[in-house]
Amino acid sequence: MNQSIQTLDVKIPALDESNYAITIGRDFLADIWTYIRAQWPKCMPFIVTDAELVKAGHLKTLLGSEKVPTYVIDPPGETSKHIRTVVAIIETMEKHFFGRDSLIIALGGGTVGDIAGFAAAIFKRGVPVVQIPTTTVSQADSSVGGKTGVDSSISKNAFGAFWQPAAVYIDVGTLSTLDDRQFRAGLVESVKHAAIADADYFAFLEQNIDAICQKDMSMLEHIALTNCRIKASVVGEDPTEKNKRRILNYGHTMGHAVESASEFKLLHGESVAIGMIAAGKIEAALGWVRDDRLERIESLLEKLRMPTRIPAELQKNTLLELLRTDKKAIGRWPRFILLESLGTTLCQDGQWAHKVSQDIVEQCLEQIY
Ligand SMILES: NC(=O)c1ccc[n+]([C@@H]2O[C@H](COP(=O)([O-])OP(=O)(O)OC[C@H]3O[C@@H](n4cnc5c(N)ncnc54)[C@H](O)[C@@H]3O)[C@@H](O)[C@H]2O)c1
Ligand SMILES: [Zn+2]
Repeated sequence: MNQSIQTLDVKIPALDESNYAITIGRDFLADIWTYIRAQWPKCMPFIVTDAELVKAGHLKTLLGSEKVPTYVIDPPGETSKHIRTVVAIIETMEKHFFGRDSLIIALGGGTVGDIAGFAAAIFKRGVPVVQIPTTTVSQADSSVGGKTGVDSSISKNAFGAFWQPAAVYIDVGTLSTLDDRQFRAGLVESVKHAAIADADYFAFLEQNIDAICQKDMSMLEHIALTNCRIKASVVGEDPTEKNKRRILNYGHTMGHAVESASEFKLLHGESVAIGMIAAGKIEAALGWVRDDRLERIESLLEKLRMPTRIPAELQKNTLLELLRTDKKAIGRWPRFILLESLGTTLCQDGQWAHKVSQDIVEQCLEQIY
């Protein structure tokens, strides 16, 4: 291995049978193939990636001169995240005589990771998947934690399974080719992790946001490691989201409604940024805020050039209707994840997701147009 490359390992603690290593470094994509071959010498590798990753040269860097059966998702992105892509992947594998000794390797963002992970969960009743995430969303969030799935024509992630990866390799160098808007929006998941779990990390992001936005590689390594530590510890405690894992939904209740109401013109991270401001307004309306957390969150999101107000064209009633159909709603009204302070999520009576009246939510919505 190239000596200048730093790699770090994180383990999911609570799942002994599915502990896996997350290796983090920069510009070591070309070495990953050797690690995979060494760790799974008896497996038949099959790669799932997308057309953008091929264009950016990352597939070639990963494989060098090796020829490996590959499914290239085209067009890249959410429009291909449906069951027909999973069927096409599985049938391609069958045509190449892949069996239970297969190893699926997902090279790409959250879309590729969710599709390939789901294909791995159901192919021949489950084969291992190695995640090689290449976006700020997937390096901070989707590659760790084992949620996989695809959308139906009616809702997101309608088909899905929990399927923990066999290993995760994060090469922050791959972010150098990622579009700036996607790069920044994905960093909102880092702000989320800091806000729910680590005040020092929040201060680190505040101090270093300019270097992070300029894609300083040592900063990107540091945040990848911290994000994975936080996500792994939450997922380790509650792998199948019975309770505590729901804190990862901070900012997402309103965020999902805003994302849908914008008909996905706003990116996920941009919508979650607005959702975090909504959560802060709710905390203030409930009288729980005695600090400057909302100002600090808003200022950090503004430095990321994220929207912090709901665009005027999104109707309040549409948002309320979308909140009623939130997939985690109880009695047609969602629960909200709220902060106790910056770096600590509010837990009351053992519950991490809180009931907030429609009146308060409506008032808070009106404040953020
Ligand atoms: N499983 C989970 O826990 C989880 C968590 C968060 C998000 N998600 C899912 O992740 C998906 C979004 O993932 P995403 O934000 O990574 O977007 P994405 O995977 O759709 O990638 C965005 C765009 O960037 C391109 N791209 C990816 N990496 C690149 C690189 N290094 N250089 C150049 N272009 C690159 C892709 O081809 C695509 O066009 C959503 O479907 C969401 O539901 C899942
Ligand atoms: Zn998210």
